[in-house]
Amino acid sequence: MKKLVVNTHDKKSKINKEIYGHFSEHLGRCIYEGIYVGENSKIPNVNGMRTDVVEALREIKIPVLRWPGGCFADEYHWKDGIGPKENRKRMVNTHWGGVVEDNSFGTHEFIELCRQLECEPYINGNVGSGTVQEMSEWVEYLTFDGISPMAELRKQNGQAKPWKVKYFGVGNENWGCGGNMTPEFYGNMYRRYQTYCRNYGENKLYKIACGPNVDDYNWTEGVMKVAANFMDALTLHYYTHPGGWLNKGPATGFDEKTWYISMKKTLEIENLINNHIDIMNRYDREKRVDLIIDEWGGWYDVEPGTNPGFLYQQNTMRDALIAGINLNIFNKHSDRVKMANLAQVVNVLQSVILTEGEKMILTPTYHVFNMYKYHQEATLLESYIENEMIGVEEENKVPNLHESVSIDKEGRVIITVNNLSITDSYDIEGIIVDKEIKAVSATILTNEMGAYNTFAEPDKVKPEEFNDYKVTDKGLNFTIPACSVLSIIVE
Ligand code: AHR
Repeated sequence: MKKLVVNTHDKKSKINKEIYGHFSEHLGRCIYEGIYVGENSKIPNVNGMRTDVVEALREIKIPVLRWPGGCFADEYHWKDGIGPKENRKRMVNTHWGGVVEDNSFGTHEFIELCRQLECEPYINGNVGSGTVQEMSEWVEYLTFDGISPMAELRKQNGQAKPWKVKYFGVGNENWGCGGNMTPEFYGNMYRRYQTYCRNYGENKLYKIACGPNVDDYNWTEGVMKVAANFMDALTLHYYTHPGGWLNKGPATGFDEKTWYISMKKTLEIENLINNHIDIMNRYDREKRVDLIIDEWGGWYDVEPGTNPGFLYQQNTMRDALIAGINLNIFNKHSDRVKMANLAQVVNVLQSVILTEGEKMILTPTYHVFNMYKYHQEATLLESYIENEMIGVEEENKVPNLHESVSIDKEGRVIITVNNLSITDSYDIEGIIVDKEIKAVSATILTNEMGAYNTFAEPDKVKPEEFNDYKVTDKGLNFTIPACSVLSIIVE
C-alpha cells in the first residue's frame, strides 16, 4: 500500500485561477470555425461565437484567454481587425498554412468572446513587426476613457466605454518567430515598448515579457538582467514532444515506450520551472516577477490528411495524463507560477474541444480541466505521495503516482492523483491530518492509454463517479486504476 499524506495545517500559496488558462491563436481552425462562425452561421451562436463551445468553456470555468498568438501576434496589426467587416483587410496568414485571414475576428470580437466566457482577456502585442506607436495605440483604444484619437475611433466603432484589460504581453517568442532577437536586444525593446503601454484611469496593466523556450537559460538571464524592473511576469514555453521537435510522432496509435517517454518529458517541466526561477531571483530579489507558463501541452504530428500548418491533432488518455501532471506541478509552484495557458483551446495541438462543422466533442484533456477546476483560487496544501519508478526502458522510468492537494474557502480538501502506469493499479492509504470527514465525492477518468473520443463515438473517454474508497479514522483508502486521473473532494 502506498501512502498519500496531506497536512491540512501546512497551507502554502494560493492557486491562482489563471493557472487554468487557455490560448487561442489565428491558427488553423482555432478562431475561425472553432470559436467564431459569424452571426449568419447555421451553427447556433451569439454575436458570432459558437454557443456550444462557449458553454463548454464556461463549464470548466475558463479564467483567462490569450490572443491573438503565438507567432501570429508578431505579425498582427490590430487596426486591420476593427471597423466595418466589409472594409477589413483580407490577407495571407503567412505563418500558419498560407490561408486567407479576413480579419472578421478582431479586438471587439475577442473582448465580446471574453465577456461571454466571463474570463479575463490576455492580449499579446506585436514587437516583431509592429511599431511602438501601434502597440501604444492599441492600449489606448482598449482602455482610455476621455478625449483622444483612439478613444474616438473606438466610439466610432460602436464602443463608447473603454474595456478593462489587465494582461498585456509585449511580444511572443522574440527569440524565434517574433523577430529572432538576442536576449539583450529584446530586453531593451521590451523596456521601450512597455514604456508607452500606459495605465489609463483605473486600468492597471500587468505587463508580460517574452521569456525562454524550454531550457534557454541564457535568454532568461539576458532579459532579466536588462528588463526585470519593468515587468510583472516572464513567460516560459514548453511542449511535450515525445520524439523531439523533428520527429514528434502520431497523436494516436503510439506504443508503450512512447507513453513513458511522454510522461518523462512532461515531468521535466518541474526542473525547468525551478531553474528559470533561480535565475529570475538573481535579478529580482523580492521575487516580485511572476512566471507564466504561456504555452504548454502535447505536440504531435498533425492528423493524416490535414493541413500541416493547422496543427490539428487528436487527444488521448496520454493527453489526460499530460494535463493532470502539468496542472499538479503548476499547483505545487503556485507561489511563483501565476498563470498557465494550454495550447490551444479548440482544434489546435492539445485542445480541450474539437469541432467538425456543427459538431463538437470534448477531449480527455477537457475532462481533466473539469475535474481540476476546484483547485482554482484554493490554497495549496503540503502533500506527499509514496511512489516507485516504472516504465519499459531503464532510461525512461517515471514515478508511478503524482499528486497535488488544496483546500478551498469552505474547508473542502481537493486531491488530484494521476496513475502513470498503463498496467498496474495501486492501493493507497490516504492520511489527511486533522480533517474530520463528513462527505466524499470522487471522479475518475480512466481508459486504455490510446483511447480517444471521435465524432462518431464522443463519449468513449469520459469521467465517471468513483466509489472505490473507504473512509478510515486517518483519512481514506482507495485503489487507483491503471492509466487514470482521479479527483477526490473531501468535505
Ligand atoms: O502554439 C503554436 C505555436 O507554438 C505558437 O504560435 C508559438 O508561440 C509556439 O511556437
